[in-house]
Amino acid sequence: MDNKNINVLEVKGLSKQYKKGVYASQGVTFNVRKGEIFALIGPNGAGKTTTIRMISTLLKATEGDAIVDGHSILTEPEKVRQCITYLPDEAGAYKTMTGTRYLEFMAGIYANDANQIKEFVERASEISELGDRLKDKIGSYSRGMIRKLLLARAMMPKPALAILDEPTSGLDIINALDIRRMIKKLSSQGMSFLLSSHNMLEIEYVSDRVGIIAKGHLLEVGTAEELKDKYGTRNLEEVFEKVVLSR
Ligand SMILES: Nc1ncnc2c1ncn2[C@@H]1O[C@H](COP(=O)(O)OP(=O)(O)O)[C@@H](O)[C@H]1O
Ligand SMILES: [Mg+2]
Repeated sequence: MDNKNINVLEVKGLSKQYKKGVYASQGVTFNVRKGEIFALIGPNGAGKTTTIRMISTLLKATEGDAIVDGHSILTEPEKVRQCITYLPDEAGAYKTMTGTRYLEFMAGIYANDANQIKEFVERASEISELGDRLKDKIGSYSRGMIRKLLLARAMMPKPALAILDEPTSGLDIINALDIRRMIKKLSSQGMSFLLSSHNMLEIEYVSDRVGIIAKGHLLEVGTAEELKDKYGTRNLEEVFEKVVLSR
């Protein structure tokens, strides 16, 4: 079946004012298709986290709506929460638990019965690629290993949409490459992703389409190739520069 034309997310004019008259995001509109990796890219303070947190139902939108797998964040937030997972930037995990214990603990929250707990833990263990290190305490893990564990946890319930805020930030190149490859692999198995990143070069390799966001405005949406062609540039960083300067 061709999923690529079904939208798993429709964002319709989402705006947020933390303070009256000051927009952290304004009229943000885009779609994410089933099986797609969509990345919001822009510098720090652009409004990525604000937009993502509204879609994740953690932050109330000032204006607009988003439809996640057919459910409105305004009128059906519980339904939305059931079909997404959200991985915040700078998320941590319980240092005194082993990796396996952490996955069991999280499976206990997501799963309906003992069989499903087992299934979820097996699935997440495999996704994490941590092997025997899952038996060790999380306190002994590197940043990269913790991120892999958190990614595996996020994918455990097979969410209709996985929302990952800056999934590779603070990682060295090897671990960032691993995370990118893991996301690509999950996407090829049919999972859908909304990512954010301030690293425009890196995101070019992982996303099917990107949205360029600056000062709360979504300025361009397209594939990296389309945007590079349109602006006659070699990479997305240069596209960003031109998009922002042209306004
Ligand atoms: N809780 C908050 N209260 C007031 N302003 C905020 C809050 N969170 C973020 N902002 C402001 O909103 C804007 C967008 O921030 P954010 O969404 O975190 O951007 P990004 O994730 O792209 O770095 C910034 O100007 C930021 O200072
Ligand atoms: Mg952010």
